[in-house]
Amino acid sequence: QDASGFPAGDVVFMERGDGNSALLHLHGATLISWKCHGVENLFLSSTSVFDNKKAIRGGVPIAFPNFGPWPLGPQHGFARIKRWTLAVPPTKDAKGDILAVVTLEDDEETKAMWDYKFKLVYTLVLSEKSLMSTLVVHNTDTKSLGFTTLLHTYFRVADINTTTVHGLKGLKYTDKITGGQDVVEARDLVAVDRNYDRVYKDAPNVTVLSSSGEPARKIEIKTFNFPDVVVWNPWDVKAKEMGDFDDEGYKEMLCVEAGKVVNPVTLTAGAQFECSQTFTSML
Ligand code: BG6
Repeated sequence: QDASGFPAGDVVFMERGDGNSALLHLHGATLISWKCHGVENLFLSSTSVFDNKKAIRGGVPIAFPNFGPWPLGPQHGFARIKRWTLAVPPTKDAKGDILAVVTLEDDEETKAMWDYKFKLVYTLVLSEKSLMSTLVVHNTDTKSLGFTTLLHTYFRVADINTTTVHGLKGLKYTDKITGGQDVVEARDLVAVDRNYDRVYKDAPNVTVLSSSGEPARKIEIKTFNFPDVVVWNPWDVKAKEMGDFDDEGYKEMLCVEAGKVVNPVTLTAGAQFECSQTFTSML
């Protein structure tokens, strides 16, 4: 994925010149590409709709101010379907790292759903082999607000059958497919072979996605203030049901989503909350 297929002004292209690049779409501040030494690490459905209305299917959509179904507005909130503003265009620092900042503030449309004043500041820093994404939520209102949030990362893998996630052993999870009581994850390496939608609670701040095949991938996901991890793959039947998801795409992706979703954040007037995730390619 590069910037060439998109209208100028819709995307922010960050490039270090060493095969490390990132591409952010301003619709939803959706990161749609992260390449490390030329290897694309994010899944983007070939049937994703780019109409600046529907959420982009793939990359890293941002869930805010609600993860999941929401009585006040669309599933996963409105941040992923709003146009964000480019506050700091890609800028190179002394080390050669590239920084860019985008923002979103309340407007009439967001207030009609969720009557709060807020500002989101999303900062990306692209380094050699890593990408740090920091989301800061500012309560700019005169009253408290509450929210959940999540970075809905779709990783690209060569083969889902060789893909594992390390770091979840011993955690309690809610299985959104089967419902019922929370279960403790017994596996050191979590593999996915079906429609899978689990919310792991109180996770450590490092998980590792590994996948063999061509190309192999090993990506460390380090988080700050994201205590929950959602692992999701729609598998074949659900993939077909989604009009914007490649029918066969489920074989080449896994969502590992860093979230603050189990216990909402409450922010008093004027307060802020910062959370981040950093991907590092370990290969
Ligand atoms: C995951 C949820 O984070 O996102 C799933 O846990 C959901 O339940 C999936 O199906 C995709 O959501 P959407 O709204 O982008 O189709």
